[in-house]
Amino acid sequence: QARLALESAGRVFGRTFEIVEGDIGGVAIAKHDTPLPQQTIDLAKSAGAVLLGAVGDRRYDSMPRARKPERGLLQIREILGNYANLRPVYVYEPLAGSSTIRPEVARGVDLIFVRELLGGIYFGTPRFREGNRAVDTEVYTVEEVQRVARSAFNLARSRRKRVTSVDKANVLETSILWREVTGEIAKEFPDVEFENLYVDNCAMQIILKPKHFDVVLTNNLFGDILSDEAAVLAGSLGMLPSASVGAAVGLYEPVHGSAPDIAGTGKANPIGAIASVGMMLEHSFGMPEAAARVQAAITRTLNEGYRTADIYAGDAAGCKLVNTTEMGRKICSLIEG
Ligand code: IPM
Ligand code: MG
Repeated sequence: QARLALESAGRVFGRTFEIVEGDIGGVAIAKHDTPLPQQTIDLAKSAGAVLLGAVGDRRYDSMPRARKPERGLLQIREILGNYANLRPVYVYEPLAGSSTIRPEVARGVDLIFVRELLGGIYFGTPRFREGNRAVDTEVYTVEEVQRVARSAFNLARSRRKRVTSVDKANVLETSILWREVTGEIAKEFPDVEFENLYVDNCAMQIILKPKHFDVVLTNNLFGDILSDEAAVLAGSLGMLPSASVGAAVGLYEPVHGSAPDIAGTGKANPIGAIASVGMMLEHSFGMPEAAARVQAAITRTLNEGYRTADIYAGDAAGCKLVNTTEMGRKICSLIEG
């Protein structure tokens, strides 16, 4: 559905996208015996942007770490070099009641995570298992924190001008560095309000008073965890898009996983993936009007009551239950219409 939405936007704005496919994750393991084959890497590097379908399947859960589908995802992020992962959490008005959080709390939420994507405990070494002991390592350099912090502050300038930096500086050495460096970068942006929050407190504040937040700057692991938590505000993890930027080729993927339990049932919500295409149009193709049009089509589809199963609140609420294809078709028709 995301591909179709990209093609719809192309038709409206007189641009043709040449779309080529490469395998990654489980399908790549099955076909090429590796979660990220070289031909996929070559295709991705030569593309204008990469749209990534979710990876992961229970069949591969017991594989060694280097051969899990997730490894392919981490590798492509690393190879493309996109260090800033933007994850907007936006509560569409008609979905304010779909959350388990009270509607008056969720309504109007509009925040964005800037998650550091190439460092921290996801990539740090040493990392090993030794009998009854296992080790992972959280590492950050000044440069890694500086560049992602600058992305966050620049983004804040185009929004409500507030950056909340998340760390655990009361305990972790990497977080002490994080707090020091982000504080220095903040001085380059005197027009942007800046605050620090400990991650445990942030996890609470984000559902207690989510409207307080504008740009939330996090390390790799904290951003992974907090973005799933914040998805509750949006009504479903299936709603959230993401963009990984900073390098020549941007990488766009919904925040959700592959949801193997509903694969092929038509229950998947395509909005996170379609909204990721919207972010691609803006960040990789310099087409902000096309991005706005995709966004408007999603808004109108929701306003008209179309719902996939994950955000369906019953016909009495004026909702129409649709499958993945129907939802995609409706959004595409509004992009083109
Ligand atoms: C995400 C996912 C990935 C991550 C997994 C699938 C490796 O949870 O993009 O949030 O942890 O980054
Ligand atoms: Mg995650």
